[in-house]
Amino acid sequence: MRVLFVGDVFGESGLRAAAMHLPDLRPHYDLVVVNGENSHAGKGLSRAAYKKLREAGADLITLGNHAWDHKEVLELLETEPVIRALNYPPGTPGKGHWTLEAGGERLLVIQVMGQVYMAENLYDPFRMVDALLAEEEFDYALLEVHGEATSEKYALGHYFDGRISALLGTHTHIQTADAGFLRQGTAIQCDVGMTGPIHSIIGGDIESFMGRFLTQRPTYFKAASGRGMFCATELVLEGGKCTSIRSMRWDEPE
Ligand SMILES: [Fe+2]
Ligand SMILES: [Fe+2]
Repeated sequence: MRVLFVGDVFGESGLRAAAMHLPDLRPHYDLVVVNGENSHAGKGLSRAAYKKLREAGADLITLGNHAWDHKEVLELLETEPVIRALNYPPGTPGKGHWTLEAGGERLLVIQVMGQVYMAENLYDPFRMVDALLAEEEFDYALLEVHGEATSEKYALGHYFDGRISALLGTHTHIQTADAGFLRQGTAIQCDVGMTGPIHSIIGGDIESFMGRFLTQRPTYFKAASGRGMFCATELVLEGGKCTSIRSMRWDEPE
């Protein structure tokens, strides 16, 4: 089974890069998972952004800390293949895992949010995923860790090493060069990277974000525009495990 995971799609530049590049890649993959937490102008997932990502080739859309920024997400979480982090308290709308099928094999996709340097105080992702893995039936499991800290992502990786096929990080929007395997065979990458504006501060408008750093005050949020990049990671799953992990980046032509 060949799986493509597309990193945080950010605003119009990200949607455009995904619409330009993903249809070309789509025939080479059985399943495509896309993080869409920033697809509506940098914040949240709207119905229009959802439709564009699905038309580009996404089978499942995951969210993150920006899950709740657009109110249309509540309906999407009820009716469509969209998941938010698993480690929210009981009663939170939507679910934190989804099982996709290809060629008679099941891929369990789980998203958790990290607890380190994140604004939300969510439940312990280690024990929540432990419980879920004991309950669910699957052939392969992909754990998306939406978090800030590389240490926490590797701790989760080693904790689930050999029990999940792959761990892919999202949220920092910066693609990391560590794609590889842990001791028991689980594939890992700290961050898949962003599908969004190349000239930006992790997707945000450079001048607008610069003020936060230069004057230590909050500034109005503005998404950057212009040429987009497309960041994704390919996983080959066969014989019960991940046998290949490959990170990729494509830039929208000038
Ligand atoms: Fe993001
Ligand atoms: Fe995020």
